[in-house]
Amino acid sequence: MDLYFLTGTGNSYWSSITLRDLAESDGVTTNVIPVDGLKRGDITLNKSDDLYGFLYPTHGFSLPWYMLKFMLKFPAGRGRVFFINNRAGMKLSRLYTPGISGIAVLVPMLIFLIKGYKIAGTMPLDTPSNWISIHPGLRPKIVNSIFDRRVSDLRNLWNRLAHHKRIYPAKFWILLPVDILVSPVSFGYMLYGRFLLGRTYIADYKCDGCGLCAIYCPVSAIRMVNKRPYWTYRCESCMRCSNICPKSSINSSVPLAITYSWLLFWIIGYQGPFAEIWRWIDQTGPLPSFFIKYAVWWIITFIFAWVVYQVVFLLSRIKIFNILFSYTTPMKFWRHYLAPGFRGKYK
Ligand SMILES: Cc1cc2nc3c(=O)[nH]c(=O)nc-3n(C[C@H](O)[C@H](O)[C@H](O)COP(=O)(O)O)c2cc1C
Ligand code: SF4
Ligand code: SF4
Repeated sequence: MDLYFLTGTGNSYWSSITLRDLAESDGVTTNVIPVDGLKRGDITLNKSDDLYGFLYPTHGFSLPWYMLKFMLKFPAGRGRVFFINNRAGMKLSRLYTPGISGIAVLVPMLIFLIKGYKIAGTMPLDTPSNWISIHPGLRPKIVNSIFDRRVSDLRNLWNRLAHHKRIYPAKFWILLPVDILVSPVSFGYMLYGRFLLGRTYIADYKCDGCGLCAIYCPVSAIRMVNKRPYWTYRCESCMRCSNICPKSSINSSVPLAITYSWLLFWIIGYQGPFAEIWRWIDQTGPLPSFFIKYAVWWIITFIFAWVVYQVVFLLSRIKIFNILFSYTTPMKFWRHYLAPGFRGKYK
């Protein structure tokens, strides 16, 4: 069995090695393969076993672009495939709550069906939420209790896979209507949110330019510019850099997120500076105008966001501005998160 994984804070890596250990205890040789940096030519189809798993985090009710692109370049074949999307597991009082998948497995299923594979199933895996730009990292006791519960999920998955049975757990079906309902948000995140979210990161005044964030980024999204990290549009907002920075120096700036949201409404608004352009496009008819408007709006927003980020990046070199950016972001004050034992390296 080959397990291809992408991870930000280690949950998907934990899922991969836990599943590998279960399979190997049954005598099934299992390769755990990080997709970061893997090229099309590096992918070999496993003739003897024919079972491929894809493990990755859920981002914005969808999957990271990087994983999607990897799946698209995966060779066509006849084997069995399954998907494990790690989601935001939480514990509120005594209640364990699940995350929401949106299109995180529906799109991959479609891609692999078209490529000729048999879909063996899916397992949404509620590992601890790592989205520390919106909430503090979970307490270690809760993290451990969530992981303990996930081992039995993976055992069930493996038992079924080993017996060539399909795996579609009840929690997949129960949340499917919600997943379909939120799918417009999923596409919005993939086409827009994800790119701008990655542009909200700023290193604070404690950054000493060690460059570890750039080295450990799974998708090489950080460039060091004059000894300061600069986030490019490649960023998947996976949270690894914020959590491995030895100085806890990386924050996702709330004022920047608000600026981008405001830009979005100002640019698309009929009261804004581009109102005449939108009215002119409206004359092309409802459907063409929708697509033209979206494309023009996307380009303008991205140019504006790029300019804003250049300015903020330059200002962040001035200590007083940097302190201002840092102290207006709650993330600076709360607990970070990495899966137990994970420090950005794969064994
Ligand atoms: C930017 C971002 C968006 C996220 N969106 C979702 C989501 O839509 N649904 C969900 O259940 N979890 C979401 N999460 C939580 C992660 O998918 C979850 O914590 C996962 O276990 C992280 O796996 P990793 O450590 O392998 O990256 C999000 C996390 C981040 C950082
Ligand atoms: S890891 Fe932290 S301290 Fe090192 S360069 Fe990145 S932001 Fe700065
Ligand atoms: S820059 Fe940071 S958040 Fe973005 S993909 Fe790289 S490690 Fe993840």
